[in-house]
This record gives sequence, C-alpha cells and structure tokens, in this order.
Amino acid sequence: MLRTHTCGELNINHINESVTLSGWVQKSRDLGGMTFVDLRDRYGITQLVFNMDTDAGLCKQARKLGREFVIKATGKVAERSNKNLKIPTGEIEIIVSELEILNTSEVPPFTIEDETDGGEDLRMKFRYLDLRRNPIKNNMALRHKMAIETRSYLDSQGFFEIETPFLIKSTPEGARDFVVPSRMNEGQFYALPQSPQTFKQLLMVAGYDRYFQIVRCFRDEDLRADRQPEFTQIDCEMAFVTQDDVLSTFEGMTKHLFKKVKGIGIDYDFPRMSYDDAMRLYGSDKPDIRFGMQFVELNELAQGKGFGVFDDAELVVGINAEGCAEYSRKQLDQLTDFVKKPQIGAKGLVYVKYNLDGTVKSSVDKFFDENALKAWAEKFGAKPGDLMLVLAGDANKTRKALNELRLEMGKQLGLRDPKVFKPLWVVDFPLLEWDEETNRFYAMHHPFTSPKPEDVPLLENDPGKVRANAYDLVINGVEIGGGSIRIHNKGLQKKMFEILGFSDEEAQNQFGFLMNAFEYGAPPHGGIALGFDRLTALFGGSDSIRDFIAFPKNNAGRDMMIDSPSTISQEQLDELRLKILN
Ligand code: AMO
Repeated sequence: MLRTHTCGELNINHINESVTLSGWVQKSRDLGGMTFVDLRDRYGITQLVFNMDTDAGLCKQARKLGREFVIKATGKVAERSNKNLKIPTGEIEIIVSELEILNTSEVPPFTIEDETDGGEDLRMKFRYLDLRRNPIKNNMALRHKMAIETRSYLDSQGFFEIETPFLIKSTPEGARDFVVPSRMNEGQFYALPQSPQTFKQLLMVAGYDRYFQIVRCFRDEDLRADRQPEFTQIDCEMAFVTQDDVLSTFEGMTKHLFKKVKGIGIDYDFPRMSYDDAMRLYGSDKPDIRFGMQFVELNELAQGKGFGVFDDAELVVGINAEGCAEYSRKQLDQLTDFVKKPQIGAKGLVYVKYNLDGTVKSSVDKFFDENALKAWAEKFGAKPGDLMLVLAGDANKTRKALNELRLEMGKQLGLRDPKVFKPLWVVDFPLLEWDEETNRFYAMHHPFTSPKPEDVPLLENDPGKVRANAYDLVINGVEIGGGSIRIHNKGLQKKMFEILGFSDEEAQNQFGFLMNAFEYGAPPHGGIALGFDRLTALFGGSDSIRDFIAFPKNNAGRDMMIDSPSTISQEQLDELRLKILN
C-alpha cells in the first residue's frame, strides 16, 4: 500500500507514530520558515508540515506542489499548536521527512472546495473533479448506504435480486423510448427499457414471487430537476398479494431506510389519501403534507353576487395563509404576478385580509361586504391575522394553479422544512386519463394496471370513471414511487389494450409475449418502483437529483464530460444501414 493511514483517521492518539499518507494537495501555505500542505483524500484532510530549518531541500520541494498534485508523504504525527477542532484530524499534523510526487496536476478549472466557484456546466464537464468535493462525495456515500440498506431489507423479506435485459422491445410507460439499431437484424431496433415492467411480471409467471432490482431505466422525456433521461429505480414485484400487502412491505422498507440511513424512527402508519381527495384538497396528486393550508371551495358563498370572474367560474377555491394579513401591497402584487406566470396560468388573485383588529379588507370589497367576507373567513377557519387567497376559473386549471400558490406560500412561511419528512400513500388513481389533443384514453399508470373489480362493469360505458388498484408513495410533495396490482388475465388485458386504442394485431405484435404468458398459469401479482435518485436526493435534503448521480446529464440530455450524444462515423452508419436526413 502507498499509505499506512487515510487522511481522515489520525488524531491525538497517534502522536509520535511514523506514518505514510497519500492524497491530493488541497492547498499549501508558505510561512517563511515553514510550509503547510493540506493533504486530502476521500476520508478527510491532514496537515503536513515542512520545516526549512530541519530539511531545506524537502521544504523547497514542498513549495513547488500545486493544487491537486498527487503526493505520498512519510513523517511523524505531532500535536498541533494551532488546533482546528472543526475537523477530526485538526489536533495533529505530520512532520514530513520524505515526499514523493506521484503525479502532477493542471490548475483545476474551479476550486475543489465545499463552496466552489465553478458554474454547473463547468462542474459537469469536469465531473471527476466535482466528485472530489465534499458535498458530492457525501451524496455518493449516502447513495451507497441507501442501496446497501435497500438490499439488506429486501433480502430479509425473501426478495430475489434478478437482472433483466436492457436491449428490449418498447414498454409503454408514457415517455418516448430510446432506441438502438440492430446491426444483425437490418432495419430493426431494440428499445431501452423505460422500466423492467413486463419482465418483472414474467418473473411472477415464472414463480419468483418476490423480485427486486436496483435498475437503470431510460426515458426520452423533457428533463427537470427531478428527471434524468437515465435514472435508477428500486423495482419490485410480488405474487399472491393484495394492494395492502404491497403497501405494507414498502412502507416497511421506507421506514427501514429512514431508521438506518437518517436515524429517524417513524412509528405510525403512513396516511392514505384517495386521488380524488388529493386533487380536491391540494390540487395535486402528490400533496406536500408537511403543512395544512388545504383548499376551501367557495362557489356557494362567492357566486351570484355580481362579480363576473366568480360567476363565470366553474370553481372558486382558496387557501388560508395563517398570520399573513400584514402582507404589504407589494407582497400581494408579487403573489398576483406569481399566479399569472404562464406556467401557472391564473388570470388574477383575489385576497381577503382578516386584520388583527377584526376588520376585513379584500380586493373584491365592491362585491362583498364585511358580513359576506366574514362568512368566507368562517368557511376557511380563518382567524384575525390571516390572509385568504382565492382563485377562480376552470376547475382543473384553477386547482393546479392554487397548488403552486400553496407550495409558494408554504415556502415563504418556512413550512417546507427539508429536515421534516411526511410520507403519504395516494391511492385509488383513475385507471385512464382522457387526452383532448389525441382524443383518446391513455393509461394513467401503465396498461398493465388492474381496474378495481367493482369498477370493471364501467369499462364498457364510462371508462373515465374506472378507478385502478394503483398507488403512489409521496414524501414531502415528491412522487417517490408508483405501482399497482396488475391484470393477470388475458381477456382483461386484451380489453385494456382495446380501450387504449390498440388493434388486436398491434396488441399481439407488441405484447403477445405477455398475453401468451398469461395463458400459462399467471398468479395474481402487483408491485411498485421507487425512484432511487429522488429518494436519495430527498434524504440528502435536495430537490435536484443531479448531485446524487455520479455522472448525470444536463437539462438538454447531454453528458458534458464525454460530450454525448455525438455523431457516429459513416462506417457505423453504413453497417447499420442508417442514413441521416437533413
Ligand atoms: P413510474 O413510471 O411511476 O412507474 O416510475 C417509478 C418512479 O421512478 C421515478 N422516476 C424518475 N426519476 C428520475 N427521472 C425520471 N425521468 C423518472 N421517471 C420516473 C419516480 C417514479 O415514481 N413500472 C412502473 C412501476 C410499477 O408499476 O411497478 C414505473 O416505472 O420516482
């Protein structure tokens, strides 16, 4: 070994020991007769000292060390006079007697410090340098621990970890596929899996009744802070189970992770909320329940008083922001601008201040007198000092906009503390979702999700009303996972494809393998997949999954470091019989 210890482990108990450390030069300081070098590795930083009086040659050598040089230093552990109690090695230093430069380094394009001066693009381009920084390194350590604890829990529950192929046929999960041309099968393409959905169902048919995999999935979709084109799922499936069994198993896993990784014990059952309630009370299928501020519908109180905006609206709905009656004109204007942003889409914002002196003041005083507004306050459960914020319009759009406003108010009021975790199961999702543009139904989760047995008769006449045995795990307003009890009967699966607009032939062509498998003793089964990057980022207190992935892509789906995607050679194109059209 080129070291006897790491740069994070020496302390006062090692005084006078002779040691060898290897690592990177974090920084060096020249103080006349002495040169100090901070040596860094994955485990920490240790101070090296070179003394001009005792070894001038060595000290001169040390003065030439640049940032990020890789060195090996041997010396004696000594107690420091000027201690740094903020780091575990801060009470000691190494009086160096031998120094070897293992490699030199260019000056890095940004500082390798916790607070770096590098912009995101630069950090992505030199990701191997960014990965040297503590915040990212800690994220990698967290991710590792989460993976180990996931495996340990699922193993203890009798799950088999089984790999499934990456070069497959398209699985419809709502996004576009990434496709890979096949050289040996001219004109034909593989698709990279959006998830191992059909394979895990086939494993159930095969009798492997508890399967999991920490697996990469690929989706060609628009990217955001919590979406990458390739991401990782904790993908699971179980046979002979009901929805309750799946929920309790993965509630158990989530609690295990909180306990083992964060030291947080959750000793209550995760609440369950129907999709309908989530939409009605929070305007979102992933409500952040760290705070209340539930929606209050005002149609009865607000309509028919001559205010056109309310009278013409399908829904008048609001939230009560406690203690915000003192919001200034400017703050209220900012909130109005916020809801009017195109991506939020409200036309305006109505406010009612319930002042501390008991009077009310609103932006609709012309139409509503004090008594009317007090009736609103009663409906909201508002008290003096509170601020009611109301939107009106088309029901779905208004709920969506109010959801954004609620989250914004939660942020402004410090109610979305990243150290507080509030898990929730959202259940009873609709099976299908109507798309106005293409004029057809899409599966809300995926086409293999089973309808609730009592709703099956509705499939014929009112498919939009059918509820699914589908569920999402939501934590702090983030969709962490989703799953369902599956269809395991060929007839029902065929019916589902028919409703989704597949002809018999198309269904057979794309999913014949699954429907055929269902003819050979498919057990009832169901499962879930948790977004591993999202779960890790949540545990790490961040909204962005990028810093929890060793080599992520940017928002344009590019890997800035290896410069991909890129063109391929004419020979490769010819071999694949592909032509690029301009
Ligand atoms: P679903 O599509 O809901 O379900 O995905 C499961 C979870 O994966 C995460 N996720 C993502 N994370 C990062 N980047 C993305 N682009 C991305 N897309 C999804 C989310 C999501 O909740 N086969 C089904 C699961 C099942 O039915 O068992 C599936 O993939 O956290």
